[in-house]
Amino acid sequence: MKGEFLVDDLVRPNIRTLTPYRCARDDYNTGILLDANENAYGPAALPPPPPGSNNSSGEAASADGCARYHRYPDPLNLDVKAMYTAWRGLPGPEWAFFGVGSDEAIDIIMRVFGVPGRYKILICPPTYGMYSVSAATNDLGVVKVPLDVTAGRFQLRVDEILAATANDDDIRMMFLCSPGNPTGVRLDPRDVRRILESDYRGLVIIDEAYIDFVEAAASASADDSATEDAKGSLAQWTMRYPNLIVMQTLSKSFGLAAIRLGVALASPRTIHWLNVIKAPYNIPAPTIALAKQALSPEGIERMRGVVQQLLTERKRLTETLRTLPGVLRVMGHTDANFVLCVIRGRGTNMPDSLRAARIYQWMADEGVVVRYRGHEPGCEGCLRITVGTSAETDATIAKLAEALANPSL
Ligand SMILES: Cc1ncc(COP(=O)(O)O)c(C=O)c1O
Repeated sequence: MKGEFLVDDLVRPNIRTLTPYRCARDDYNTGILLDANENAYGPAALPPPPPGSNNSSGEAASADGCARYHRYPDPLNLDVKAMYTAWRGLPGPEWAFFGVGSDEAIDIIMRVFGVPGRYKILICPPTYGMYSVSAATNDLGVVKVPLDVTAGRFQLRVDEILAATANDDDIRMMFLCSPGNPTGVRLDPRDVRRILESDYRGLVIIDEAYIDFVEAAASASADDSATEDAKGSLAQWTMRYPNLIVMQTLSKSFGLAAIRLGVALASPRTIHWLNVIKAPYNIPAPTIALAKQALSPEGIERMRGVVQQLLTERKRLTETLRTLPGVLRVMGHTDANFVLCVIRGRGTNMPDSLRAARIYQWMADEGVVVRYRGHEPGCEGCLRITVGTSAETDATIAKLAEALANPSL
């Protein structure tokens, strides 16, 4: 970012001037709390607690662990945010926003910064589908600068991106997915840095949903930056670039997709604006209770152990797929928890999307569900296969081999 940057200048005028909703809990959260029209009798529909397990506050409790579920949750969760930012090497909780999954963060970012019917986002296909869906919901245009897909590189075409933004001042946000979905490839941080240090004055949003699956060795060789963390996350770059937002999630490496907790990391002023428009109590208390466990030192240690297991399985899946004659190649197997398996056309040395689509359908009917991605640029003939358990890998390989041997597919 060249020159002075004030994120407030990018905020939609109606949001800059709105008076945010004040929660009852913003003012007081202890004492006799009869200010929020909650049910003072406790979680009425849940089974009663075992004898002697009422909580120490003396409030009605219906079951262990649910004692306070009749209360609205903490609107900001600064304690859990502090755990998260400490883990990612950021100064404090004011650098984090929590959303109902990163999907909510994507939508809120667009609502804060995108004037409907006028502004645009820039994306680099093949990429995660929700950027376009959220843009359409918010009536924002979508400018596409496809990735360089040569030989499965799946990297940014920085010159084309900067030409697009230089020619169109209405491009206010750029959503870059790293590691990419469905590419499975981490973007070269040097390319991201070129964008951040260019004349572009909009926001750069890096979606790092899969960042914990990057192998340390791969990330160290890809970049010379001292502030990139050991796993290659650019989270700490938010301290250097005020127009950068890094999104992460507990849905992938932490194995907690059901609790719906996504994180946006950015400078405190940007986070302030995301908080201004979020629903007052957007993150449920059970989610926060589970996130606290997940982000404890023991939780992070457990997560790392499982990720390690998963990476071993990813290697086995990749190597076994490569032995199947109907598989032309395997791509994107280095940085995420899935791989792209390219299906070969019968009797050719070319990818075959029609055959991949037929195989996808047949396998799904047989009970093994992978994802067809053959319609995406650079993904001709591709099935995206999530790394499963060992038994799931074996079953998937067996089913795929059966499909490839089936003359009608
Ligand atoms: C790149 C990417 N970002 C975000 C998400 C959604 O994450 P969450 O579960 O936190 O909404 C996904 C889900 O598959 C994804 O692939």
